[in-house]
Amino acid sequence: MEAGSRFAQRHGRLINIFHYGGVYLQDLLIRGGNSLKGQVKISGSKNAILPIMAACLLSDGEIILNGVPDLEDIKVMSEVLEILGAVIKRQDDVLVINCSSVDACEVPEYISRKMRASNLVMGALLSRFGRARVAYPGGCAIGSRPMDLHLKGFINLGYEVADEYGYMSGLKKNAAGKEIMLDFPSVGATENIIMASALIPGTTIIRNAAREPEIIDLQNFLNRMGAKIRGAGLDCIRVEGVDRLGGVEHTVIPDRIEAGTFMAAAAITRGDVYLENVIHEHIQPTIAKLRETGAEIILNGSGIRIIGNKKIRATDVKTMPYPGFPTDMQPQFMALLSVARGTSVIVETIFENRFMHVPELRRMGAEIKIEGRVAIIKGKSHLEGAVVEATDLRAGAALILAGLYAEGETRLGHLEHVERGYENIHLKLKNLGADLGFHP
Ligand code: EPZ
Repeated sequence: MEAGSRFAQRHGRLINIFHYGGVYLQDLLIRGGNSLKGQVKISGSKNAILPIMAACLLSDGEIILNGVPDLEDIKVMSEVLEILGAVIKRQDDVLVINCSSVDACEVPEYISRKMRASNLVMGALLSRFGRARVAYPGGCAIGSRPMDLHLKGFINLGYEVADEYGYMSGLKKNAAGKEIMLDFPSVGATENIIMASALIPGTTIIRNAAREPEIIDLQNFLNRMGAKIRGAGLDCIRVEGVDRLGGVEHTVIPDRIEAGTFMAAAAITRGDVYLENVIHEHIQPTIAKLRETGAEIILNGSGIRIIGNKKIRATDVKTMPYPGFPTDMQPQFMALLSVARGTSVIVETIFENRFMHVPELRRMGAEIKIEGRVAIIKGKSHLEGAVVEATDLRAGAALILAGLYAEGETRLGHLEHVERGYENIHLKLKNLGADLGFHP
């Protein structure tokens, strides 16, 4: 076995330590047919931690974040903060961040392209330092990912915003609290505007705000630093500007999408899995849809048990902003419905190009027809292992689920996408009985 594989096996990392130009030399091998059994602990939420790390720029004190998984995206956000002058230390799943010595306000293009969420530092830089220059994040596999709602919010607040040579730049000028109506409940725009409002005079009202749980976690984190924010989780959020924000210790909420992914894995393998560290309220849309497919789901304390049904039933799914069915669970559900009895319809209303996993699922024998943002899935009783590639984070997760079901061996390439959002998914699945390995 290659040295790298031994490293990967030992350290549970999906990918080899040797990679060339960002392309990893190892593929994940999945031998299908095992039913997942046992229990798995869900990690802290990637999509809660990233805005919270950006919000650390608002503070001149020390911040301790507990329950922070070791993910690629979190490494990139740490790199962004360090480029700006922050000091960050990691001890197991604890991050200690200090932004008192931050003295730069520019995020270069090479970083912004790596991870869209790096744009979340813009609101905090504007609010605390009065200036920011952030390279456009660029599109990604799932869509063009524009920034117009973020910039419109900053302009409404009185920031002077310019668009130059691929950069978004802003200056505080006469920024003050205002009423803002979002054309769409954008998660990132809601988060960025909250942070841009936190340290300016006056009160900001954000209407048609996104209601995702990660925004509630951001509000709780900021209020513990001394902010005055109300209404996160509803569609109208009120931010009263304050003069400064101090240090705080905070434990991040569990990752509702990782939880949903493992629940779908238990369902597709007809397994019996207990998830620890979940907030039931956050995964109600996924629970409801899994029950429609015939899975048995039992809630207790801070855990959840899912027992897969021998006969997976077809159902229809339409992705919506929270509390609707999450777009980040759409690819994983498509894998599950590919082996359901009957025909299912999935409508993807959030991103314009989030069906990149379809051609890869078809290589495994899935019968899926695409009409614009609508996918018609004719359930099959049989999938074949094949050589497939992850095109984005959740597409990679979907292909792992399909491989767990398929007959024979599936080889999944471009694991770097999966590493961005799932901590030790390889080890967690192996501990549940999945038959996984590496192809050098
Ligand atoms: C967040 O992305 C999540 N990322 C995404 O998770 C998630 O899919 C998305 O919200 C929707 O729930 C993080 O939280 C780090 P949006 P974000 O702004 O904030 C359009 C994952 O797999 N839009 O709510 O970028 C946009 O193009 C990732 O973990 C504008 O038109 O999502 C999209 O069609 C993928 N103009 C829709 O809104 C804007 O200015 C939703 O985007 C901003 C967004």
